[in-house]
Amino acid sequence: MKRVFSGVAPSGNLHIGNYLGAISQWLELQKHHNCVFSVADYHAMTIFQPAEKLREKILEIAMIYLAAGIDPKKSVIFIQSDVLEHAELTWILNTITKIPELELMTQFKDKARRFRNKVNVGLFDYPVLMAADILLYKADFVPVGEDQKQHLEFTRTIARRFNGLYGETFIVPEALIMKESAKIMGLDDPNKKMSKSAENPHNYLGLTDEPALIKEKIKRAVTDSGDGIIYDKEKKPGIFNLLTIYSLLSGKSIQKLEKEYKNKNYGEFKKDLADVVIGFLSPFQKKFEKLGKNKNHVRRILADGSKKARLIAQKNIKEIKNKVGLNY
Ligand code: AMP
Ligand code: TRP
Repeated sequence: MKRVFSGVAPSGNLHIGNYLGAISQWLELQKHHNCVFSVADYHAMTIFQPAEKLREKILEIAMIYLAAGIDPKKSVIFIQSDVLEHAELTWILNTITKIPELELMTQFKDKARRFRNKVNVGLFDYPVLMAADILLYKADFVPVGEDQKQHLEFTRTIARRFNGLYGETFIVPEALIMKESAKIMGLDDPNKKMSKSAENPHNYLGLTDEPALIKEKIKRAVTDSGDGIIYDKEKKPGIFNLLTIYSLLSGKSIQKLEKEYKNKNYGEFKKDLADVVIGFLSPFQKKFEKLGKNKNHVRRILADGSKKARLIAQKNIKEIKNKVGLNY
């Protein structure tokens, strides 16, 4: 079976974009692949949050994976910092990464701009840690949203470079990006991606948002001038985005929705969309709440996941260290 690796950093609030762009793919993939899903806590540290908050977020993301349907019997779920080899391989890959390559990264440039006084070396090195995550497991596929495409390209470059310098070691991984859901846009601005670190909470539909809040956020979502529920990215980016979410969550095709809402206004459309989102999230939120009452159960799953991840990581790091001459 081919191996899949992916992860989410435990910071901010996970939203419907994370679900549609990344996690929903994982659910399909775990049926026929050897999947490893990480809670990327080292990545989260690149933007400061107090220790108490990070601790809380790590468990929250793990609970989100489980509540969404990632099955620990089929997939490995683990915490990145539980497997030391991630940090070790990052160092090795740092030595074959060039500074201008990292300076090119859009996410770095973006975050460096937004968190001006918090730019740290970790934020700069973020893509190398991500490459280490993926290559350490010799993953064939990496299911992510559109925004991670550049990091994946970088990972492929580094894998090839290492193989060229030290001999065939790494699999050059392939990004799996779903066309329709790769980039869900913000409700407050359909020209910017929905982001868990958005300052305005009305930017995103949080996976743990209460029904009343979902209703309010959708009601207030920016729509376009004029009326008509039409799927047109250029002329109607707001409605385009809402239609995308509606279609993906309900399973109804865009054409069907356009027909259904032909003579209806934005208000009616938004009200129904809110019901669809709430209906979709309800079973997920019930499971999430239940897990929240039994955190030790979650911790046990994670301990077991780390054990399995470590087995793979330790075997591969040994080979990598031998290849570069870190053995004597
Ligand atoms: P992040 O929120 O950056 O930790 O991303 C976690 C996963 O969700 C990654 O695979 C991202 O590519 C994906 N993702 C994040 N934001 C969006 C979005 N607005 N639309 C689709 N996928 C997203
Ligand atoms: N950087 C990813 C994000 O923010 C999260 C992540 C960390 C990841 N390590 C990874 C995704 C490895 C895929 C593979 O979305």
